Amino acid sequence: MTLDPHTFMATLEKRIGLTSEDKELLKSEANWGLEVASEMADHFYAYLGRDAEMDAILHASNERMHRLHETFIQWFHEMFTGMDNWGNAYAERRWKIGLVHVRLGIGPQHVVPAMATVIYEVGKRLTKDGKSANLKDALGRMCMIDLAFIEQAYIEVSSSAVLRETGWSEGLFKRLIVSGAKAM
Ligand code: HEM
Repeated sequence: MTLDPHTFMATLEKRIGLTSEDKELLKSEANWGLEVASEMADHFYAYLGRDAEMDAILHASNERMHRLHETFIQWFHEMFTGMDNWGNAYAERRWKIGLVHVRLGIGPQHVVPAMATVIYEVGKRLTKDGKSANLKDALGRMCMIDLAFIEQAYIEVSSSAVLRETGWSEGLFKRLIVSGAKAM
């Protein structure tokens, strides 16, 4: 179950329907993305801070919040620039972000509402700045791709850990999941 980030990116682009027009539009608005990134980071961390569990993770060390603010700005801006035109560097960066969250024990229940907050807040700012519905859609698709990376990292890491510890085959593991789901 080792995921190739580049292949995964190509699959997601197809499934989510990210087009070359979306990419061009995002790139043309990269300066706007950078301009609003800090405000989006503020909304994002204010949101996480209102949840006791996530607030405790955020404040586990003193420099963490500062580092996070900076990395959020970079992450947000990269959705517009695509780094290397949404190639290997972009996919590997998204995969690494996923792994960082798995290591911290941050799961789907935290990440999905957090991404919904990004989409909601950026939507408000897009309207305020008179930006097009096409930009909103393109950005929404990018957020879903980035979210899928974090979610998939969670599955891949958990599954690989079980397979490594038990020596089970992938086929057996999948059968156990199916029978486990049936029993619930
Ligand atoms: C929309 C979802 C999220 C995005 C896009 C995001 C983005 C990022 C990025 C870009 C990094 C830096 C990764 C690196 O070091 O390479 C990071 C790290 C981190 N994130 Fe998130 N994050 C999300 C959700 C969350 C949630 C829900 C929490 C819960 C508290 C969280 C807490 C953290 C923490 C604690 C770190 C590590 C900070 C450090 O010590 O360096 N993130 N995140």
